[in-house]
Amino acid sequence: MTSNAELIARRNTTIGPYSPLFYNEPLQMVSAKGVWITEANGDRYLDGYNNVPHVGHSNERVVRALCEQAATLNINTRYLNERVVDYSERLLSTFGHGLDRVFYGNSGSEANELALRIARQHTGATGLIVSDYSYHGTTISLAEMTTGLKTREPLGAHVRTLRIPDLDRDERPEAEVLADTLAQLDAAIESLQEAGFGVSACLFDPLFSTEGMPRLPEGLVAAIVARVRAAGGLVIADEVQSGFGRTGTHMWGHDYAGMVPDLVTMGKPMGNGHPMSAVVTSEAMLDEFGSHNEFFNTFAGNPVSAAVGEAVLLEMEEEQLMQRAATLGERALVSFREFADRHDFVRTAKGSGLFLGLDFAIDGKPAPQLAKQVVEAMKQRKVLISRIGRDESVLKVRPPLAFGPQELPVLLEALDNALSEV
Ligand SMILES: Cc1ncc(COP(=O)(O)O)c(C=O)c1O
Repeated sequence: MTSNAELIARRNTTIGPYSPLFYNEPLQMVSAKGVWITEANGDRYLDGYNNVPHVGHSNERVVRALCEQAATLNINTRYLNERVVDYSERLLSTFGHGLDRVFYGNSGSEANELALRIARQHTGATGLIVSDYSYHGTTISLAEMTTGLKTREPLGAHVRTLRIPDLDRDERPEAEVLADTLAQLDAAIESLQEAGFGVSACLFDPLFSTEGMPRLPEGLVAAIVARVRAAGGLVIADEVQSGFGRTGTHMWGHDYAGMVPDLVTMGKPMGNGHPMSAVVTSEAMLDEFGSHNEFFNTFAGNPVSAAVGEAVLLEMEEEQLMQRAATLGERALVSFREFADRHDFVRTAKGSGLFLGLDFAIDGKPAPQLAKQVVEAMKQRKVLISRIGRDESVLKVRPPLAFGPQELPVLLEALDNALSEV
């Protein structure tokens, strides 16, 4: 086994030292199965964090589908292939609201980039509105609207930000918080129009994951959607984190949030680790974009990706993973609330399905160091979790959806002990 120190040194002289690593002492992983990951020294970790291996690490059905299709045919979409159409029908059958067409991509970034391009063409405007603490990807357009990274490029002149409130952290009456947020949005829209950019789109994650899963004022999301549309803009739901049944209650984050977007983007869990993504939209939107642009993406929507995507959906269905996420999430939240009652520094427990958080604060101020200590203490107990939010003070528990009832007590016991230790 190559020592961590040696591997880090080699990594620094190839990939470079800026590509982030988790933990004070990074983990060198060598294999994984289901919701367990094995470190190079043989230690096993319970995965309470990773959302990409949605139906489980090295899932048999997915691996088999991938290998069989790769051994049979992998070819671009300029040739007819039934598997690609089968998968598209299956994927689209999970949507409502006339969202019945799909463009494929290879990453969440690509999906968001395409959604922005479609919105720009549809509206003839270039102005964009995003949450003031969010991340949507790596391209130039997305880098210009990234607000949720520590080191980043300046915002584009055509970008305005909106602070998403959290009622768990805001002492003001809910109506006042709502009115204040909408006033900010109105000002952003007005400013884009005055500057001549107009409003092309508002892009947000319906769960506001990066923001730390804030508790929103009633009616906020609906009001954002209505105002953006009234200004001529489109609404893009970035479901890279919130989609594929993550919330337990709904397959899609926009349904969880009670909104109907014009475009839905997805990635990460879609291929269980195989790189694939998509933009789902209406027939009218696809026709408009497609008829004005010959759009072709070499690797996107190929038969291997379709086979993998189909295996993910079948596995979810047969193992009833979304329903399981709902049940386990509810059970976990009961314990999380107990932790919040027991420990002064836990301000609140939050989340839905298998996306759960504990918000840490001391004397009413966010406590990121404490959250970091708990993440490290969990690692000592061989459970992987992380933290999110603008202050990185919200503990982030977001395991593969394949997480089972037998694993939940392991995670809860470790968390109980870690919270008592710090
Ligand atoms: C909400 C959200 N959107 C988009 C992306 C970008 O996806 P990718 O890294 O696959 O390009 C991410 C990645 O972290 C994300 O969390």
